Amino acid sequence: MSFIGKLTDFLFRHEKVKIGGGEKAIQKQAAMGKMTARERINALLDPDTFFEYDLFVKHEGKDFGMDKKDLPADGVITGSGSILNHPVCIFAQDFTVAGGSLGLAHARKITKIMDHSIKMGIPLIGINDSGGARIQEGVNSLAGYGEIFFRNTLASGVIPQISVILGPCAGGAVYSPALTDFVFVVDKISKMFITGPEVIKTVLGEEITMEELGGARIQSEVTGNAHFYAKSEMECFEQIRRLCTFIPWNNSKKANPFPSKNPNSKYNIEKIIPSDPSRPYDVRDIIYSVVDGSDFLEIHEHWAANIVIGFARINGETIGIVGNQPLVLAGVLDVDSSDKAARFIRFCDAFNIPLLTLVDLPGYLPGVDQEHAGVIRHGAKILYAYSEATVPKVTVIMRKAYGGGYIAMCSRHLGADFVFAWPTAEIAVMGPEGAANIIFKNEIAEAADPNEMRKQKVAEYTEKFANPYVAAANGYIDAVINPNETRKILIQTLQLSKQKKEPRPLRKHGIPPF
Ligand code: HXC
Repeated sequence: MSFIGKLTDFLFRHEKVKIGGGEKAIQKQAAMGKMTARERINALLDPDTFFEYDLFVKHEGKDFGMDKKDLPADGVITGSGSILNHPVCIFAQDFTVAGGSLGLAHARKITKIMDHSIKMGIPLIGINDSGGARIQEGVNSLAGYGEIFFRNTLASGVIPQISVILGPCAGGAVYSPALTDFVFVVDKISKMFITGPEVIKTVLGEEITMEELGGARIQSEVTGNAHFYAKSEMECFEQIRRLCTFIPWNNSKKANPFPSKNPNSKYNIEKIIPSDPSRPYDVRDIIYSVVDGSDFLEIHEHWAANIVIGFARINGETIGIVGNQPLVLAGVLDVDSSDKAARFIRFCDAFNIPLLTLVDLPGYLPGVDQEHAGVIRHGAKILYAYSEATVPKVTVIMRKAYGGGYIAMCSRHLGADFVFAWPTAEIAVMGPEGAANIIFKNEIAEAADPNEMRKQKVAEYTEKFANPYVAAANGYIDAVINPNETRKILIQTLQLSKQKKEPRPLRKHGIPPF
């Protein structure tokens, strides 16, 4: 064949495979409001940067008529490209080909790209849209999943791993996203579950739709499996690109610096904190008032809202923020908020991102439900994560820091490098009401007017302990600061911490309470 002939043949082969499952299957995707796998990759990456691997890989299924089936690219597009001019590895399952189901060759394409991203030290993005294990390939598809989970675990803490759920993600398939750092879902399109509605109906006799079982809202509001929720695929891709501006490309790098930018002057700490200490405020307003350009990327926005986590920048450098949210349950720590914060702290620690902790909480949430849900085990995760973290850790106690909450929220005792308190801080074993009722029980009971006596004792306790000065006298905080100077002080302390080194005893790994 002549050169031109070979070239024509090459182009023809490319086009044939690139059409995936064909026009009819593509129309079906479009009718569900879904883009094709290739459209998704092109919309997410920088224009014209996608370089595809393994286009001509063939599946190895022989049973149930599979030997007669041609499955273009074996239902998964893999390759590399760039986001914001930085390289990434990516795969996108193609639902138009055998429902994006995962057979052995499909799995090998994914594990190849995973190995590549680990070796090259670049993030991995997986777009999941699949009916799960390819039933016709039996144990080979299960093996494929196992190989993927193994690599997700090897890559954990080495490169950022991002999962995007843009269709069904059923059965054991959900565990790959669950092992990754950030999971993105899209309204009405994403469906994640271990056992689908059919099985639930058969086994439990309950009728439920896929949406109710594991749709995007459920995963981002109820289970916490998803970190980011979007209304459309394009919005989701914008969210991923924005996330990429805050995180480093691997664990030996720092996130890219940006020019420093003052916060928007409409956020004024003095106006945000209510003068009545029992009234709530939105901790995000405090964040907007101290970070560059008031630009904060919130993670898990719709789940465990009593704690707020996310990325921002101080003086151009990425920081991770953990803040109690007084607007929701007074900002208490509970099972879900402990899990939410602990995992985020570990991500920041693994990827060289300093931590800022903003404290205002009455402690851990009391109650039978929480005790029985394992608040001891889950609550311990946040203690572990903060103690383990060796990135710079700066804590600002804004108002309440009571009991276990004081210790857990990156106190000096868990290794904070800097702890500051505002004059409004109340650092004590518990709130004045509860404390007075316990320690002055007899005086209150024996008083001629117990209510009056209780008031007096609450005032006495408040005067003595509900302030930052006892902790300051013990050196547990480094300074009581003017709230208006918080940003200035954060810039100074983070600058000071740039070369921080904190060696720990050698060990294979710790055993966190998960
Ligand atoms: C082989 C599959 C498939 C699968 C879908 N297809 N899932 N082929 N193995 N797992 C094929 C269909 O046969 C069909 O092929 C095409 O994909 C599109 O599927 P439809 O059913 O027509 O699409 P839709 O109506 O949109 O329904 C999508 C779906 C449904 C909800 C995902 O297909 C479904 O329930 N699939 C099975 C899900 C499942 O139970 N998977 C196994 C989970 S167990 P044609 O040729 O007609 O176009 C598992 C274990 C992993 O994953 C364990 C790892 C540790």
